[in-house]
Amino acid sequence: MTAYINLEQVNFRWPQGGQVLSEINLSIEKNQTIALMGANGSGKTTLSKLILGLLKPTGGRVLLAGRPVESYSLAARGRLLGYVFQNPERQFFAPDVAEEIGFALKYRNLSPEKIQERVAEMLALFELEQYAATFPFNLSQGEKQRLALAAILAPRPDFIIMDEPFLGLDWLRKQRLQAILERVRNEGVGYLLISHDQALCARLCSQTLTLEGGRLL
Ligand SMILES: Nc1ncnc2c1ncn2[C@@H]1O[C@H](COP(=O)(O)OP(=O)(O)OP(=O)(O)O)[C@@H](O)[C@H]1O
Ligand SMILES: [Mg+2]
Repeated sequence: MTAYINLEQVNFRWPQGGQVLSEINLSIEKNQTIALMGANGSGKTTLSKLILGLLKPTGGRVLLAGRPVESYSLAARGRLLGYVFQNPERQFFAPDVAEEIGFALKYRNLSPEKIQERVAEMLALFELEQYAATFPFNLSQGEKQRLALAAILAPRPDFIIMDEPFLGLDWLRKQRLQAILERVRNEGVGYLLISHDQALCARLCSQTLTLEGGRLL
C-alpha cells in the first residue's frame, strides 16, 4: 500500500530561476499531522502546490492515493485534499460568505437541509454568522482566513493542506483555530500545516519537516 500522499524524487525549478526543490521524498498517511517549516522563499508554498498538482515537478512524481496527481480532475483532487491558500482571497468566488461555505457541499450528495445545517455549523464555529450575506472580498484579513478554513472544512475532507492559516489572526482567534485543529486531528483527519510558529507546530503536529536549501530535513 502506498501512502495517501507520495512524493518520489521530486525536483522543481522555475523556468528562469534556480532550483527550488531537490530530490524531495515524502510519504504522508491520511491521519498524519505534519508541520512544514522553513525560511521565507525556501519553497513551502511551492511544495504544497506540487502536492495539489497546481504546479508540475520538473523531475520525479507526485501520487495521491496511489495515483499520479495529474490523473485526477481538479474536482476529484478537491475531494481528496482540502487546501487553504496562503492568500485565501484568491480562492473566493461566491457572492456571499454563506454560499462560499456551502458551495463544495452541493456536490457531495447532501440534502438541502443538511447543507444548510452544515453551513450554519461552520458560520458559528468560525464566528462568521453576522457576515453570512457579506461579499467575501470585503471581509478583514482575519475574517477571510476564517472563511477559507470554514469553506475547506465544511465538506469534511480526509486531509487538509494549510498554508499559514494562523496569519492575520488575533490572539483569541489563534487559540480558537488551535482548538478546532485539535478537534479535527482527534477525528482522525490529517493535515500538512505550513507555519513559522514552532510552538504551534509542536503542539498541533506529530512531526515537523523543514525545508532548507531545496531539501527536506
Ligand atoms: N511564479 C514564480 N516564478 C518564479 N519564481 C517564483 C514564483 N513563485 C515563487 N517563486 C520563487 O520560488 C521560491 C520559493 O517560493 P515559495 O513561495 O514556495 O516560498 P515559501 O517557503 O512559501 O515562502 P514564504 O515563507 O515567504 O511563504 C522563492 O525564491 C520565490 O521567489
Ligand atoms: Mg509560502
